Amino acid sequence: MIIGIPREIKAEENRVCMTPAGVEVMVKNGHEVLVEKSAGAGSGFTDDAYTRSGAKIVDTPKQIYAGADMVMHVKEPLPPEYDLIREGQIVFTYLHLAADEPQTRALIKSKAVCIAYETIQKADGSLPLLTPMSEVAGRMAIQEGAKFLEMAQGGRGILLGGVPGVEPATVVVIGGGVVGFNAAKMACGLGAKVYLLDMNLDRLRYLSDVMPANCFTLMSSPATIRTLVKKADVVIGAVLIPGAKAPRLVTRDMLKTMKKGSVLVDVAIDQGGCFETSKATTHGDPTFVIDGVVHYCVANMPGAVAKTSTLALTNATLPYALQIANQGWKGAMQANEEIKLGANVINGKVTYKAVAEAFGLVYTPVGKLLN
Ligand SMILES: NC(=O)c1ccc[n+]([C@@H]2O[C@H](COP(=O)([O-])OP(=O)(O)OC[C@H]3O[C@@H](n4cnc5c(N)ncnc54)[C@H](O)[C@@H]3O)[C@@H](O)[C@H]2O)c1
Repeated sequence: MIIGIPREIKAEENRVCMTPAGVEVMVKNGHEVLVEKSAGAGSGFTDDAYTRSGAKIVDTPKQIYAGADMVMHVKEPLPPEYDLIREGQIVFTYLHLAADEPQTRALIKSKAVCIAYETIQKADGSLPLLTPMSEVAGRMAIQEGAKFLEMAQGGRGILLGGVPGVEPATVVVIGGGVVGFNAAKMACGLGAKVYLLDMNLDRLRYLSDVMPANCFTLMSSPATIRTLVKKADVVIGAVLIPGAKAPRLVTRDMLKTMKKGSVLVDVAIDQGGCFETSKATTHGDPTFVIDGVVHYCVANMPGAVAKTSTLALTNATLPYALQIANQGWKGAMQANEEIKLGANVINGKVTYKAVAEAFGLVYTPVGKLLN
């Protein structure tokens, strides 16, 4: 199979969907890889590194779409790319179609085979191609919280871990899933006093087992959140209710009771945010202040650490991409239920129920297209 790696064109996106090491694996398996000039530059991978791994460098996205059997990406295809996608071509990337009708209609029109990273799902319900980005965002949330606690950044001037003889900061993490676990782990490692909240008692039991002694697990409730935010130096929003907007857990009234110069990091901002006062910000202008509380609400946090994020993402995507390349999309979906769940739009038909429902389109189970 010929695999195409275009340069990302979405604003502030520095990741690339395959590293030179991934290209080498593809080539060793008998595939050809076309890489658009400078596709890896934002993540620190040169065209030379790709060439040494066996890729062919091409100048334009047009050449990628014209030549490849499978085009991979990080972000969804954007309007300038819609007409380049060919019938029967595999498009393998984050699509997030249920929130994007124009793209859904463009992919239906293309008659391509569109497989979404975010709906590939393991038997235990976990989402293996979303997990690495949640790990990055969770760990980064503490880094950002620590930075914006500094006085020059508008913060209270508190060192997260304290020093001998001086109390550490108090960090409240709301949501103990992948983001929350990783955030709490980082905060604990730095020596902060950490409260980790979730609604799921089994999850709290697990977290209580594995987290260090400076992490206190608590059942999440409005009353607990109201009490904790008063003493917090940093609050991390890390909740997710699948398929729904994030609940507004820290209200404007609670904000008024918080310490001036404390920091809210709303990682759940991509689902609308879990603080009433959150609104999405960018890496260029990441924070704003309300009632003296610094808000950090960047919707694509992993983009700021593009190299780590690229490596983490490609570690997770490569085995799936390789299986699709080796067996073809039908063979891969017949052999691997996880990849089958990634099927969103195939040959003009919507094969993912939530996407069909979002826009009142006909849903066709992918099984019907596999013979
Ligand atoms: N901003 C970014 O760059 C970025 C990057 C990655 C993930 N995210 C977002 O971060 C959020 C969390 O992702 P995740 O991978 O950790 O999800 P997850 O499903 O692993 O964890 C979510 C957790 O929230 C808990 N929860 C639900 N309601 C709660 C409540 N009222 N109080 C406390 N806990 C509650 C759930 O029980 C679950 O354990 C999602 O919205 C995700 O889209 C954002």
